[in-house]
Order: sequence, then structure tokens, then C-alpha cells
Amino acid sequence: MIDMIRLGRDDSIRERIMKRNGKILISSLKGGVGKSTAASCIASALAGEGFKTVIADLDFRSGSLDILFGVSDRVVFTLDDYILGRCSAKDLTVSVNAEAGGALMLCPAPSETVFESHGADMYGMIPYALERLAEETEADYFICDTGADSRIPKLIGDGFAEYAVVVCEQSRTSLRAAENTAEKLSECDGVKTVRLLINNYDNAAARKKSRAGILEMIDGCAVKCIGVLPRDEKLAAIQDKGLLPNRDSPVAIASRNAAARIRGVEVPLFSGMKRLRRKVRF
Ligand SMILES: Nc1ncnc2c1ncn2[C@@H]1O[C@H](COP(=O)(O)OP(=O)(O)OP(=O)(O)O)[C@@H](O)[C@H]1O
Ligand SMILES: [Mg+2]
Repeated sequence: MIDMIRLGRDDSIRERIMKRNGKILISSLKGGVGKSTAASCIASALAGEGFKTVIADLDFRSGSLDILFGVSDRVVFTLDDYILGRCSAKDLTVSVNAEAGGALMLCPAPSETVFESHGADMYGMIPYALERLAEETEADYFICDTGADSRIPKLIGDGFAEYAVVVCEQSRTSLRAAENTAEKLSECDGVKTVRLLINNYDNAAARKKSRAGILEMIDGCAVKCIGVLPRDEKLAAIQDKGLLPNRDSPVAIASRNAAARIRGVEVPLFSGMKRLRRKVRF
């Protein structure tokens, strides 16, 4: 049985005032658009700024953050263990390398089969578990990476997250999926802000007019854009080694820009990215 008392609000736990936009949901109804890539890079960027950052892998079907952070062999517990009271927040979270050695911790995902084997109530407990985890870890920022489904993002949007990022690629189909995702999230009780993150942006293709250009994408989308991560042919190989993009790489710079905008800092669109710099501002 789920230990409801353990997860209920406990006055003895100090109410942590998280940063503005501190509880962040990253999602899209479309698979493979770069949700986990964006989530890992933005989390690393926030940690690199000195913020205590927790990133929860809530993709129970194909969680990948432990691989992207190169910590698979250090995963002992997963979120279901925490919900069931089998481990503490400290036991659950795995410390990972972030930019400039900032404090970044991963909450690993259980598989869907394992999670559901504990009973039907488990999904409903996720927002409570995240709330408690955010308090116990004293996170400044808490990022939730989700899979390409609507069930878990909606749960988190209704019960935990206040800021949602929908990710799309440079295609009309993924842009439409992002808009549909944003529409669903805007109906969630907790979500106050929904923003678009364009990933895998190929500027050379845009210049050849074989793919949509950035302004065309931004103008053509109902969701306000929070950032653009450029295409990096070497990214998959880097991620396979359990490494984050190098601090000076365009993806890392763009992720820092997006992280800054989430924090409310105004940053020009391609700030720091010489080849992509434009005069456009958000
Ligand atoms: N900016 C980028 N440049 C090049 N490749 C990228 C970029 N972003 C993501 N990719 C690649 O695209 C693939 C999918 O990325 P990722 O796993 O982050 O997507 P996802 O949306 O989390 O997928 P899923 O729906 O399965 O959770 C990976 O192989 C990743 O390396
Ligand atoms: Mg993913």
C-alpha cells in the first residue's frame, strides 16, 4: 500500500521558497523532438549558474536521463521507491556533473511495468512526491522531463509545475504538436506560463529555404518562444558517452540563454552564438 502519510504535507518540513518559474515541466506530445536533450542542458545551465537544481525523469516508457548524464551505474532507487517510502530523497537522487560544477541531482525513472505493478494509485501520487522531493532537496529549480504522452504531463501540470516548456523541431508537424501540447497544458490548474523551445534548428537548411526559418517559425506559432537550440551533428555521439555538450558549444550556449529567459532575464535570441546572431529580441 502507498504510504499516504509519508507523502502528505508535513509541517515539520520547511516550506522552501523556490525560484520564480522554479517548477518546470518539459514536454511534447511528439516523440524524439529533444525533450530530454533540452531538459538535461537547461538543468545543467541552471546548476552552472549556482542554483540547486533537481531534474526528474518522468518518462517511464523510455527514460533516458541517466544515460545522458552518464550515471546509469549509480542508479539504485527510482521514483516509485520514494513514493512507497522505501528510500529518502537523498537515497533517490543521483548527483551528476553540471556546468561549472554546479549542484545538479537526478531523480531516475522507474519503468512503466515496475511503476504500475505497485497499483493504480501510483500515478496520482506523482505530484505529491515531486512536491515533497522539491522541499527535501531544497531545490531552487526542479525540472520534469516527460515522455511523448499526455497523461504524466497533465498530472504534473495540474498538481506541480508552474512553468511549461513545449519542445518542437524545425517542422510544421512538430510545431503543430507543440501547439496542441501547449493548449492542453494551458488548461492545467497549476501551469501559469507555457513557452516554446525550438530544437535541432538547422540554419543552413533555413538559408537554403529547404526548412522553415526561425522568424517564420516564431511568427507562425501561437506559443511564445523561449529559445532555439541549434542542430549539432555530434550531439548523439556525445550523449551516448554520457556527456553533456561542451560548455562552449552552441547547444550549451543556447541552453544557457533559454535558462536565463526562464529565470526572467532578457537575452537576445542568438546571444553568444556568432554564426546565428540576429538582432531579434524576445
Ligand atoms: N539539437 C540537436 N542536434 C542534433 N541532434 C539532436 C538535437 N537534439 C536532440 N537530438 C537528437 O535527437 C534524438 C532525440 O532526442 P531526445 O532523446 O532528447 O528527444 P526526446 O523528445 O526526449 O525523445 P523521447 O520522446 O523518446 O523522450 C537524440 O538522438 C538526440 O541526440
Ligand atoms: Mg526523452
